[in-house]
Amino acid sequence: MTPNDQPRLEPARAAGLGLPGFEVWDSLASTNDRARTLAELGTERGWLVVALEQTAGRGRRGAAWTSMAGEGVWMSLVLDEQDAIPQLPILIGVACAEALENAAGVHVRVKWPNDLLIDEKKVGGILVERGHGWVVAGVGINVGGAPSHSALEGESPVIRPTALSEHTKERLTILPLAGELARAVLTFLDAAERVPEIFEAFEARDALRGRGVRTEEHGPGIARGLDEDGMLLLELDDGSVRSVRSGSVRLMPQTGWEE
Ligand code: BTN
Repeated sequence: MTPNDQPRLEPARAAGLGLPGFEVWDSLASTNDRARTLAELGTERGWLVVALEQTAGRGRRGAAWTSMAGEGVWMSLVLDEQDAIPQLPILIGVACAEALENAAGVHVRVKWPNDLLIDEKKVGGILVERGHGWVVAGVGINVGGAPSHSALEGESPVIRPTALSEHTKERLTILPLAGELARAVLTFLDAAERVPEIFEAFEARDALRGRGVRTEEHGPGIARGLDEDGMLLLELDDGSVRSVRSGSVRLMPQTGWEE
């Protein structure tokens, strides 16, 4: 048997966090794939999958997510269909931003829908995937080393990546941080009837609000927060306001990121 054939189970860590299970793999293709398999097998909601390395990590919109061994938190949580509220990406973004801020002592903002930023650079990203009967939330946080990001091939310019180690004196340890992120997501989800509070928390961390952006869906405009489903509100030149549901959102050249 090779070391990667089976995960290491961490029952004490899981119990301490109130999670049904905490499994750690030396290497996986993608923690989201493993969490999906577990979800399809009926594994309890809140089961956490962590891989020290991913060989085929995925970002949003089909991008690759580089996931070097020991350089980041590469994790996925098994959720269930009741968690798949429209505001789920926002909720996870805010929960992870709070958990990171508590762990690292640095201000973390959220760029809609769920990039995590420190000083305008991307420290992490979130990939929610769902299908018939399964929902998983994948989180990737650059802790050290060469930071990962999920730019599509040929897509430029992009937000620059960063890693937590560029902003903290001591390097954070991966498994405790993964546990805190998972616990924060589940705590926010269990309070999901308090969606207005989640929106308030997002507002305080919104990296785009009031700034000129270019969206794939509706073109340029000013970011004006969120609609009730957690979609980005965009004020167009003619004063009308549209909801952005998908696609890329970039800051306009004069406001940063694009060069
Ligand atoms: C993005 O910013 O495009 C989302 C990146 C999500 C990466 C994480 S790492 C753990 C989980 N497994 C994956 O294959 N992707 C997510």
